[in-house]
Amino acid sequence: MSQAAFDDRVAAYAQSASHREGPTLDLTRELAQARPGDLVLDVSTGTGFTAHALATQSTLVVAADIAPNMLRHTRATAPTALQVVQTDTHALAFGQQTFDVVTCRHAFHHYLDGNLAMSEMARVVRLGGRVVIADTISPANAEVAESMHAIELARDPSHVCNRYAAQVLELMTEAGLVVEHSVHTRTEQDFDSWCSRTGVSDELRCRLWGDFNGSEQVRAAFNVRETAGSRRFDWPVLVAAGVRRA
Ligand SMILES: C[S@@+](CC[C@H](N)C(=O)[O-])C[C@H]1O[C@@H](n2cnc3c(N)ncnc32)[C@H](O)[C@@H]1O
Repeated sequence: MSQAAFDDRVAAYAQSASHREGPTLDLTRELAQARPGDLVLDVSTGTGFTAHALATQSTLVVAADIAPNMLRHTRATAPTALQVVQTDTHALAFGQQTFDVVTCRHAFHHYLDGNLAMSEMARVVRLGGRVVIADTISPANAEVAESMHAIELARDPSHVCNRYAAQVLELMTEAGLVVEHSVHTRTEQDFDSWCSRTGVSDELRCRLWGDFNGSEQVRAAFNVRETAGSRRFDWPVLVAAGVRRA
């Protein structure tokens, strides 16, 4: 999907509870282990929730994204100083071994070439530095994984693919990162807010809710439920940290 299309989503991402908070934000910050004086890069920063969480008076954070409107929002709302840079994660505009820490939260599934994106993140982190990836992953069951992919793609044309956890870890290893931590968690979604974020039509909203309830297997895998007028589900997520050793 084009950079312009992401530019149109600033308000939607800025209001998204699952981006603003949730277990992956704390885990990303925890596994990043940023220390005073560290230079941190947050790629695909979106509206900057992760960059803001990592920025303290003692770390310098560079927030990068392909979409300039996202960066404008991130800079304008930063509680602490950070720099913004427009760059594609597939071809990061930084020299080798520039950063102590690189983070990428809820964005890896947008990348057309996961191998290249991961290699770029590993290239710009210093020896001994850390790369932290937090993203939705495919459930182990292939049929359920296929349903997740179809649902995601129908709701968001910028979705490329969710990978299996083992694939993400393998990409990290292939990029020269030694995986030190990997944590499985879930990201909870309010179905209607999640649909509104990408502007789905009423017709598609109906169809997607039908897809979530299409089989007991899918309902159980995504914890699909409806209570007091609120329709909810959750996706499986992996948060993994790798250290560059070579
Ligand atoms: C869901 S948002 C990211 C959320 C954010 N990381 C957070 O923690 O709140 C996905 C972002 O990925 C960006 N993006 C998509 N493809 C990209 C690419 N190839 N290079 C850099 N950024 C990209 C989009 O512009 C969008 O801002």
